[in-house]
Amino acid sequence: MEEKKYKRTTVTAALPYANGGVHIGHLAGVYVPSDIYVRYLRLKKEEVIFIGGSDEHGVPITLRAKKEGVTPQDVCDRYHKMIKDSFEDFGISFDVYSRTTSEIHHKFASDFFRKLYDEGKLVEKESEQLYDEEAKQFLADRYVMGECPHCHNENAYGDQCEKCGSDLSPMELINPHSTISGSKPVVKTTKNWYLPLNDYQEWLKQWILEEHKEWRPNVYGQCKSWLDMDLQPRAMTRDLNWGIPVPVEGAEGKVLYVWFDAPIGYISNTKELCDREPERFGTWQKWWQDPESRLVHFIGKDNIVFHCVIFPSMLKAHGDYILPDNVPSNEFLNLENDKISTSRNWAVWLHEYLVDFPNKQDVLRYVLTANAPETKDNNFTWKDFQERNNSELVAVYGNFVNRALQLTWKYWNGVVPSCGDLQEVDRQTIQEFKDVKEKVEGYLDVFKFREAQKEAMNLARIGNRYITECEPWKVWKTDPKRVETILNISLQLVANLSIAFEPFLPFSSKELRNMIGLDNYDWTQLGSTEILAAGHQLSEPHLLFEKIEDEAIDAQLKKLEDTKKENEAANYVAEPIKKEVSFDDFEKMDIRVGHIVNCEKVKKSKKLLQFTIDDGSGTPRTILSGIAAFYEPEQLIGKDVLFIANFAPRKMMGIESQGMILSAVNFDGSLSVTTTLGEVKPGSQVG
Ligand code: MF3
Ligand code: ZN
Repeated sequence: MEEKKYKRTTVTAALPYANGGVHIGHLAGVYVPSDIYVRYLRLKKEEVIFIGGSDEHGVPITLRAKKEGVTPQDVCDRYHKMIKDSFEDFGISFDVYSRTTSEIHHKFASDFFRKLYDEGKLVEKESEQLYDEEAKQFLADRYVMGECPHCHNENAYGDQCEKCGSDLSPMELINPHSTISGSKPVVKTTKNWYLPLNDYQEWLKQWILEEHKEWRPNVYGQCKSWLDMDLQPRAMTRDLNWGIPVPVEGAEGKVLYVWFDAPIGYISNTKELCDREPERFGTWQKWWQDPESRLVHFIGKDNIVFHCVIFPSMLKAHGDYILPDNVPSNEFLNLENDKISTSRNWAVWLHEYLVDFPNKQDVLRYVLTANAPETKDNNFTWKDFQERNNSELVAVYGNFVNRALQLTWKYWNGVVPSCGDLQEVDRQTIQEFKDVKEKVEGYLDVFKFREAQKEAMNLARIGNRYITECEPWKVWKTDPKRVETILNISLQLVANLSIAFEPFLPFSSKELRNMIGLDNYDWTQLGSTEILAAGHQLSEPHLLFEKIEDEAIDAQLKKLEDTKKENEAANYVAEPIKKEVSFDDFEKMDIRVGHIVNCEKVKKSKKLLQFTIDDGSGTPRTILSGIAAFYEPEQLIGKDVLFIANFAPRKMMGIESQGMILSAVNFDGSLSVTTTLGEVKPGSQVG
């Protein structure tokens, strides 16, 4: 293995915006992988710090506040708490989880800006910006919407088009409108401070494209496409009133750009922690300025440019800081083949998950890692969730642990027996699980969490095979001494599992360690056959995982189905009105009331119902209608409906239909038969 060049690791996880809860996409993209990594380093007894916090500035928060009629701070307070609780619930083991509205952060970010300003590292520039005359405010970022100049999506934001992914500035939008007042903005001149990214381009090229070829291909690729273009100076301030005031005279009404202050939040949160617990963590400078510290940023793919280009340029401009050593960024996770979206509520929210699946944090962690979007976008489905729980966690991991513990209780009253002479199968098994340690490490060291977890699971597969091959229940009758050895090795494997899975499934690992009474453990024990001493008493065993039934999955799918319906209903826009017709045209149609005497399904047709209608003429009339998917025939018998009586007869499925029953087409395509409000004689005309 390559020799370690560093003494300690500073791990950050992207600061989520405090304008919503945490969903599985966040967890899979950033927080589970970073937590696995940090737990792994801690288990190896490496010096590590894990920094998180809420990103509480930026336009989306102010827009949400406006919509709800509360202050931006109210919004932050509510969601900061909710996010923090979710992370705690899921075992995301931050050393600090603070927020960018903290006083420490405001001062820190402000000082950082001021230093760059004082040293002439920022360029002051006048520019034309959109201004809302009604709201008396400049329209930064998401305060404007309009048509994307690239793909012509009419709902592009001032900073980005979500449809084609283009990076935009408000002035580029076609037909812009203010999201505050809806009015058409005017153009006004304003002054802002820019970081001349162009000055850092050559350096960035060398540092990333030459010196960090080991970064994930998706990260490296995105950096390359940015660096292949000419970087432009980027405004680090905004004409806004929510954020950190620009600490420069004459900058009233301006705040630091949210992407300037948020990453500095990593540093100020570290400072907050180090000030609070200096004995344990030392100084913040140690984590951010000592060249022997290694910085790793975990982020989602929409954050790559900020963490690989802009923030490093800020750090470089400042001069005192170390730069990220790696930026493991994931791609996106979809939910049931559809993009996760907060506004469409297409998500699995962590707080809701825990209500439906109490104490099953590890199941979600497991599935999200098994399916992690490490190299490409990936998909979460509830079926897969169930499948992985039932056939992997329950049938492989849980099953092995249960077999080993139950057998020990059955034959040895829950005491670890001693290990006798080894046979070939024992030696082979021991070698196999020693190999697992190296493989898991090899993957974790390069941020391949899916592969690493797969290898950890292999320990349980090895265990199941071992017990099956050794058949202790048969051997017991002839050679109980041999059973002692089999059980001892099985129990050592169980102990190994509790260590190997600690980074991935911390809750079940803890439960398992409680069952086997393992208090002191660390990563170096992985692969060892001497973790549990002979004579050691185990605790009463119970099942680590339980089967998830179809009903639970169906309920989740139903919930998503309902969300889809709600969205469709909310988005429904009536079809445009058809071309005008004259009264004469209308009069040509003979619309009448008919009484349904009989209704039945048409054989071999999924769509058609056959009606027998009393149309007042004395002779019953047959009409076919394609509404079988929406009604049971019995529901309709006895009802009065509207139908077109002079519609040219048509043959369908060999039956002649003499007219057309009128139905309304609902937003989701479902049909609803029209009827009269009062009682009317069959054959009455409608007009
Ligand atoms: N709030 C941003 C987002 O959710 C991430 C900020 S990361 C930090 O996309 F670097 F700015 F902290
Ligand atoms: Zn676009």
